[in-house]
Amino acid sequence: MSAYYVMGLDIGSATAKAVLLDESGYSLAFAVRPTRGRLVQSAEEVKQEILAHTGVSEEAVKAIITTGYGRDIVQNKTKSLTEITCHARGAYATMPNIRFVIDIGGQDSKAILLEPDGQVGRFEMNDKCAAGTGRFLEVMARTLGIHLDEMGDMAIHSEKYSKISSTCTVFAESEVISLLAQGEEIPAVVSGLCRAIAERVYGLASRVGITPPIMMTGGVAKNKGVVNWLSRILNQEMIIPPEPQIIGALGAGIMGLEMIKKSNEKMNIITQNT
Ligand SMILES: Nc1ncnc2c1ncn2[C@@H]1O[C@H](COP(=O)(O)OP(=O)(O)OP(=O)(O)O)[C@@H](O)[C@H]1O
Ligand SMILES: [Mg+2]
Repeated sequence: MSAYYVMGLDIGSATAKAVLLDESGYSLAFAVRPTRGRLVQSAEEVKQEILAHTGVSEEAVKAIITTGYGRDIVQNKTKSLTEITCHARGAYATMPNIRFVIDIGGQDSKAILLEPDGQVGRFEMNDKCAAGTGRFLEVMARTLGIHLDEMGDMAIHSEKYSKISSTCTVFAESEVISLLAQGEEIPAVVSGLCRAIAERVYGLASRVGITPPIMMTGGVAKNKGVVNWLSRILNQEMIIPPEPQIIGALGAGIMGLEMIKKSNEKMNIITQNT
């Protein structure tokens, strides 16, 4: 049994994510819940869910590291870190040869270049507009009357794709409605929407300097349509970790563990010298 545990909490605009690590860095469990605008409450919910699931007591958790849009509002945190740092660290821990991370969440998208030693190099973020984010897909799923998690399969099985010319979510929604009125089939529209996101993210990634191997993180990496279009447009394979949505929380947990280890080493040196 581990003597202590570390929790990484990623409180995003769409979902709250928690990962619990033991002192060796082994990931014991994770939890994901929608935030629905209640950041503090959803943070507490994922935290309690993971503790109940593993049977680990709150006292045994030596550090809680937070990241994401709501990172500063979490109570009883040890430290908060930026999403860029945490996604990069989580991706590097999952696959140490990774050089580029594309994170597409509910509200923003990010492209991060990693140095060969895992340090963050250049990065770019789109947090001004819903186009090129999961929110765009959520709005469109509602307009089309389909579920978010069926969009990916629909897109990859469609031979045709609709050309969506608007980059703005509001205008693109009107465009989708008129395409449907003209008899365009839903799978073609969905594929066109996935392509529109991929085009947008391609612009972002190009400004950073696309360097393979590339990993995709964030909830949108679960959408095979976006993944497929991105790999076609970038002409590169997209590496998708088994749970792309929790990579930021994993990175936060790992950074917490490293902080504890560093401070223990310092204490050891002080005790040895006194
Ligand atoms: N099963 C699924 N299939 C397809 N897409 C999904 C699925 N689950 C989540 N998504 C997409 O993931 C998005 C949320 O991603 P994520 O949880 O990474 O966001 P977030 O971290 O809360 O947001 P941000 O980082 O922008 O603040 C949703 O908007 C949705 O488009
Ligand atoms: Mg996020």
